[in-house]
Amino acid sequence: MLDYMEIILASNNPGKAREFSRLLKNHTIILPAERGIDFEYNENGVSFLENAFGKANELYKLVKIPVIADDSGLCVEALNGEPGVFSARYGSDASVKKLTSPERNDLLLSRMQNISNRRAFFVCCMVLFLDTYRFYVAQEIFCGEIAQGPAGTNGFGYDPVFYIPGYGKTAAQIGDHEKDKLSHRGKAARQLSKFLE
Ligand code: IMP
Repeated sequence: MLDYMEIILASNNPGKAREFSRLLKNHTIILPAERGIDFEYNENGVSFLENAFGKANELYKLVKIPVIADDSGLCVEALNGEPGVFSARYGSDASVKKLTSPERNDLLLSRMQNISNRRAFFVCCMVLFLDTYRFYVAQEIFCGEIAQGPAGTNGFGYDPVFYIPGYGKTAAQIGDHEKDKLSHRGKAARQLSKFLE
């Protein structure tokens, strides 16, 4: 088993750092800012893997300590997999202000009006870089449906419009620990923990 490690997360989002700390609890997760690093990465890849790998590789070159990076998004069957890798920027282009999460959810619901196939899944690709020549990749999914309207206040992003049929609730109506068990990120992190062990 790999001993305790300090792992730097390729993100500037403290919420994500808390989530990773819960998921990889034997290790300490820190953000680039805690090392005085201003890390920005332009996620312009065509796949979750390309974005996650690119971010991990770029940050590893700067810090030379283990790095974890992920890229995730929502794929809707009836919309041919959209918003997919564009989930964070759905409905926005470079010339307009980025939509807020509730605005993105409204946009998605309006595109799904009168569509009966509501099947959708979240994807998370996670890359753990130990050093230049040793890295691990896990990609996982979380299946559900696009709800008819938003419900719930937990979670973030598309959670209020992501309905989990087995639970009769949206992802924003379940608790963090329940979501970790089901989620794309939870599953990918557990696969990476197995590699670490
Ligand atoms: P990124 O992985 O930080 O690039 O985020 C991708 C985008 O996908 C986020 O901004 C959210 O809109 C969406 N997303 C990814 N995972 C989830 C989730 O678990 N719940 C809700 N939205 C998510």
